[in-house]
Amino acid sequence: MRKKCLTAESAESAEGAGVFLLFLRVLGELRGKKMKGMMMRKPPVLLSACLLVAGTALPAHADGERFDVRNPGYQSECAACHVAYPPQLLSAASWRAVMDGLPKHFGSDASLDPAAHAEILRYLEANAGRRDTTAAGKPQLRITETRWFVREHSEDLPRDVWKRPAVKSAANCAACHTAADKGDFSERTLRLPKGVQK
Ligand code: HEC
Ligand code: HEC
Repeated sequence: MRKKCLTAESAESAEGAGVFLLFLRVLGELRGKKMKGMMMRKPPVLLSACLLVAGTALPAHADGERFDVRNPGYQSECAACHVAYPPQLLSAASWRAVMDGLPKHFGSDASLDPAAHAEILRYLEANAGRRDTTAAGKPQLRITETRWFVREHSEDLPRDVWKRPAVKSAANCAACHTAADKGDFSERTLRLPKGVQK
């Protein structure tokens, strides 16, 4: 039973969560109609358990804007040079490729001792996204080169936005997403730097 509920937790898109919530609503209405005036023989345990799981999971996984990045090892080892990128934005295969290349990590040495390496890889794999992030048959290393990222960032932003002095790099999420370090990419915390029109 719990397993079924958990599919909602890992729903990647807001649509997924929406459909799930709609399903719950329909279920609720059906029950309301059928059971009007009747004594409920079985308490709706399954339903409330699902709601509970969905309720705690939504902000972290399913809305596409807010991600849970609170992992001590990940924070201490992978958030020193840039924000802790949400694990959900790359596939497990991509994270393995990133972790395999740490000694030559985008021009810096980000190698880890074996224990920390294993722990962080486990965390990334467990929270990786379902989207396919391969290009030309190879797992992509950059979130900023994924089809999803490019699509999400092509509207309303000038083409050369990533080169602007206030932004420097697309990987510099915090230039626009002011709460990126907390995994919050919602519109509420989005502030485009001066000179970058939306
Ligand atoms: C010593 C500094 C340093 C550390 C530590 C570090 N990184 Fe990076 N990382 C970089 C640099 C530099 C870039 C390239 C940034 C750019 O292109 O502007 C980068 C880029 C990335 C990107 C791609 C960003 C994009 O363009 O989408 C990912 C993913 C990434 N790092 C993951 C990690 C992970 C996981 C760890 C921890 C195991 C880690 N990094 C630790 C320096 C570091
Ligand atoms: C130059 C500014 C800028 C930078 C840098 C930037 N973004 Fe964005 N991001 C935006 C804009 C603008 C949107 C679209 C917001 C909208 O239309 O709702 C967006 C949307 C998003 C969304 C989608 C939120 C939703 O509504 O579903 C996510 C997730 C996101 N960005 C993550 C990232 C990550 C991760 C990085 C760094 C690797 C990054 N962004 C770098 C400007 C930026």
